[in-house]
Amino acid sequence: PTPLVIDTDPGIDDAFAIALAAASPEVELTAVTTVFGNVGLDTTTQNALRVLALCGKENVPVATGADRPLVHPQPHRASHVHGEDGLGGRSTLLPLPVRGPDPRRAVGLLAEVLQAASQPVVIAPIGPLTNIALLLASHPELKPKIARLVIMGGGLATGNISSTAEFNIWSDPEAARRVLVEEDVPTVLVPIDVTYRCAVEPAWLDELADSGPVGASLVALTAPYRAQYQATLGRDALVLHDAVALAEAVQPGILRCQRMFVEVECGPGPARGMTIGDRRRSALSREGREIDVALDADLDALRDFMLHRLCGKE
Ligand code: BDR
Ligand code: CA
Repeated sequence: PTPLVIDTDPGIDDAFAIALAAASPEVELTAVTTVFGNVGLDTTTQNALRVLALCGKENVPVATGADRPLVHPQPHRASHVHGEDGLGGRSTLLPLPVRGPDPRRAVGLLAEVLQAASQPVVIAPIGPLTNIALLLASHPELKPKIARLVIMGGGLATGNISSTAEFNIWSDPEAARRVLVEEDVPTVLVPIDVTYRCAVEPAWLDELADSGPVGASLVALTAPYRAQYQATLGRDALVLHDAVALAEAVQPGILRCQRMFVEVECGPGPARGMTIGDRRRSALSREGREIDVALDADLDALRDFMLHRLCGKE
């Protein structure tokens, strides 16, 4: 199996993403690192520990990372989406972890995992990109040990936290710009353009809830989140952004990508945190580099894959 590290801010869809990775034999979940984001760092860390306990993966080390963005002083929270506890007000339904976080911090643990790995490691960042920017800045020599970054973030056609910006990029645009534009690690960006198209319907959730204790607990977390998406989508369905990114991390190619130059707006105005994909084919010289942006998939196959794995079937 390919070694995999998830950098996360659980978050309801983060919980699904961690569970998907934990249930997938193609990858070995080697570590989880946490970051501020949907809620504060202490809470995202507790939630990561609880989700791993639910999945029987308490042996996976969890290390805490950044509690705020690189530059912007006030971390924004998304408790209006994920609840004050980050898990829809239901975190206590998940088991209490027997172990606390690892004594190492996120960047230290990531560096140690990369140094020790006998094959390149996939990193799946599904929260603000602060830890990853710090890792790449402080350990450039380890970049060849990263097989690829599979990042949930961005929105080319629209935003979600603002009309222009997606939440993970908006939460720390300077970190996102460093990772997506200035660095040269192979990168797949999974933006909301594709995650919204993979929304799951009530029948999908019912089948997961009936599959056993892990599925039942995951679905139990979704009640308020589901109501939010019902309002946004105008139908009873919900979007599991981070789990879609993890499907690609586990099974490369399950999403269809286009290569393009991406920019991140770091100015203070209404476009702060916007991701701009440049799909022009002209030979104009552009700054930055091309990355893969996932914009399409066989949507039914993708939903089946996620359901199958979360239900505990290989
Ligand atoms: C992203 O923002 C968070 O609220 C979700 O966990 C996901 O990572 C979607 O915009
Ligand atoms: Ca997340």
